[in-house]
Amino acid sequence: MSVRALTVGLGDRSYPIHIGRGLAGQQALFAPHLESGRAVVITNETVAKLHGDVVERTLAAAGTRFSRILIPDGEEHKRWETLDGVFGEMLRAQADRRTVVVALGGGVVGDLAGFAAATYQRGVPFIQVPTTLLAQVDSSVGGKTGINHSLGKNMVGAFHQPLAVIADTSTLDTLPDRELVAGLAEVIKYGAIRDLEFFAWIEENLDRLRDRDPAALAHAIARSCEIKAEIVALDEREAGPRALLNLGHTFGHAIETLEGYGTWLHGEAVATGMVLAARLSARLGRLAHADAIRLETLIRRAGLPVEPPTLAVDAWLAAMGRDKKNEAGRITLILLDRLGAAAIEKNAPPRELEALLSGR
Ligand code: NAD
Ligand code: GLY
Repeated sequence: MSVRALTVGLGDRSYPIHIGRGLAGQQALFAPHLESGRAVVITNETVAKLHGDVVERTLAAAGTRFSRILIPDGEEHKRWETLDGVFGEMLRAQADRRTVVVALGGGVVGDLAGFAAATYQRGVPFIQVPTTLLAQVDSSVGGKTGINHSLGKNMVGAFHQPLAVIADTSTLDTLPDRELVAGLAEVIKYGAIRDLEFFAWIEENLDRLRDRDPAALAHAIARSCEIKAEIVALDEREAGPRALLNLGHTFGHAIETLEGYGTWLHGEAVATGMVLAARLSARLGRLAHADAIRLETLIRRAGLPVEPPTLAVDAWLAAMGRDKKNEAGRITLILLDRLGAAAIEKNAPPRELEALLSGR
């Protein structure tokens, strides 16, 4: 299986994304970023048992001294107390400013370890080694790091770009089906916001993706990362087009927050959020009704939820009102004009939104 290499073009902070099977064992990919010879591997117990040894053997072979920091598994642990524990472990391990954080795991580990790297001693370098589909197509790329607050998803964080993303697609062999399917939500998102041809390819190849066909997964990961890298290079700090990557997320983050972190997986919440965004786009006459149905059909076929939980409209609006994209008290949403063409709506019409959320 070939190795694909992409670049996130950010001037002197540009970095590679390597995608392929067996990459966690490839010393040559890690060594250029480990000149200091010191690292901490931040991971959780689930991932450590499955994939910790191979990464740590690679670090050792590269002549790197490292210690392992374990965080508890689960979205509900992407929080301040866990981060504080990580800082304590880094201090006990005498990590210094040249110590490289290696984030080994899914998006929860990547976001929290990345934020630890962004803030420990005012910032240390880090490498992303994503092990879920969702992390390989989305969260490991682009430098958004952070933790949740009880009042809102990802409300505390920093932009901090990694030195490299090393996506070993063989780690996905051990991923539970529900997690693989959750990752497909973000893959579908890229097609929906930017690339109709890719969207049609996902429709045609959905069974191969769900069956973990290595070539299909490699293509889905590479194309998703290409789209994300292109958008991040245009707008690293989300002053404009990067917000398009948030299709479905304002609804989705509200579901995650209101239902309790970890009840709905992030990808599941985003999937339903994309259906709601498409329904609203159709109600507003922006998106052809047939295209809203087409997106919903693909999401359903992928095994993802298309109906939100029952939540009071006030609760929806309060949670959505705390989204980071909002300005001056108005809810910003990403809507669809066509499949493959998303747009930022800075003033989502309140009446239509309320009608949608109350099922009218
Ligand atoms: P996750 O990190 O919770 O991982 C899902 C589950 O899979 C966990 O139980 C984990 O231990 C397990 N796991 C990980 N790798 C495994 C493997 N190879 N084999 C078996 N089990 C494995 O969830 P996720 O879906 O990867 O990430 C979701 C998080 O990512 C959310 O917090 C979301 O907000 C964040 N996110 C961030 C960005 C960003 O740009 N920073 C983008 C999208 C999502
Ligand atoms: N996942 C959205 C972003 O990285 O901007």
